[in-house]
Amino acid sequence: MQATFLSSSIPATSYSSSSFLPQPPQAPARLPLPSSAPTRVAVARRAAEAGRRPGRRCVPASASSSPATTAASATEVPGTMKAWVYDTYGDASVLKLDEAVAVPPVADDQVLVKVAAAALNPVDFKRRAGKFQATDSPLPTVPGYDVAGVVVKVGSEVKSFREGDEVYGMISEKPLDGPKQLGSLAEYVAVEEKLLAPKPKGLDFAQAAGLPLAILTANGGLEKAGLFAGMSVLVLGGAGGVGSLAIQLAKQVYGASTVAATASTNKIELLKSLGADVAIDYTKENFEELPEKYDVVFDAVGQGEKAVKVVKEGGSVVVLTGAVTASGFRFVVTSNGSTLEKLNPYLESGKVKPLIDPTGPYPFSQVVEAFSYLETGRATGKVVISPVP
Ligand SMILES: NC(=O)c1ccc[n+]([C@@H]2O[C@H](COP(=O)([O-])OP(=O)(O)OC[C@H]3O[C@@H](n4cnc5c(N)ncnc54)[C@H](OP(=O)(O)O)[C@@H]3O)[C@@H](O)[C@H]2O)c1
Repeated sequence: MQATFLSSSIPATSYSSSSFLPQPPQAPARLPLPSSAPTRVAVARRAAEAGRRPGRRCVPASASSSPATTAASATEVPGTMKAWVYDTYGDASVLKLDEAVAVPPVADDQVLVKVAAAALNPVDFKRRAGKFQATDSPLPTVPGYDVAGVVVKVGSEVKSFREGDEVYGMISEKPLDGPKQLGSLAEYVAVEEKLLAPKPKGLDFAQAAGLPLAILTANGGLEKAGLFAGMSVLVLGGAGGVGSLAIQLAKQVYGASTVAATASTNKIELLKSLGADVAIDYTKENFEELPEKYDVVFDAVGQGEKAVKVVKEGGSVVVLTGAVTASGFRFVVTSNGSTLEKLNPYLESGKVKPLIDPTGPYPFSQVVEAFSYLETGRATGKVVISPVP
């Protein structure tokens, strides 16, 4: 199936034009690195506090790192909600739809978001499989990092958002280190104000939900690699959730002179439509045997050993997954609303477009199917859950 940009309200972009590139002295548009401040893990209150019906299973409380506030709210928020939950690590079959999970309390620096759409990332199934147990939140877990929705309650210290605001973001500051126990695959999620941004105008909730973790990863990795206007970059895994955005950001935000990317045969045209100047079919060619060398190699596949062979001397290899070979470096995404806000103009103008996998969006009832599909490793763009619930 051929993937298409779903952004009907966003004008079509000619990726061959360099007129989109920020001109000096603004070029390249440098986006600040996300803050490395430790996250404050939001946890659920006792289900009893949320007024659940007796006998229903809810995500239990653990010690809260910040007191829940009685947030000013004119919106009626129920005590319990539907959410996907797992209480043991394992494959997709551990996911259960629970209709009586306690709606999370809202800390002073948080807002409560009524979830309109969410998206899956490989970290969701790796976490569910128990790969990050040492630093994970306690079970049971409501998974999901990416959210787009509407603010229905604000904490007492919140300044940027009000009830009714449409927002999007990645709900845990550090996805591997103390992520939230109550994620976005639920009707409501409590999120720190600093992790959210206004939903880009012209994007619907499904489109916005597919962006946060992937675009923050693409942007952060390219920035950390020191990509500047006029440099060349090779994106390994160009058709995936992160790679499809890395190609577009490299071209449209960072002003790369040459963007090359890899994918399998059916996705070569897609790479070009995303802005790749050179599309390498990995089923036919080994990129590491080609003569071209790049200033930056962005590895979203786990090919660090091959990646270092095609970087120019003094260049950078940013590795998202798999082993890091010397001269390459690992990048791990951090959530930050202000970075999303800086990217919003590119999303609102259509210079950078969300790419939703054509098998979706998946309705809330089909989260298990959506996970199973993402886990094939063949997704094109983002696997989005919409509508929620
Ligand atoms: N460190 C971090 O902070 C961070 C953040 C985000 C993601 N990640 C990691 O980065 C990886 C990519 O994430 P994602 O969200 O982009 O995953 P994804 O959307 O599931 O990636 C799927 C894509 O990978 C492509 N692919 C698979 N094998 C390939 C190969 N050998 N060469 C080229 N393309 C290949 C597939 O294209 P074909 O069907 O054509 O093969 C498919 O389109 C995951 O391992 C994820 O956990 C790390």
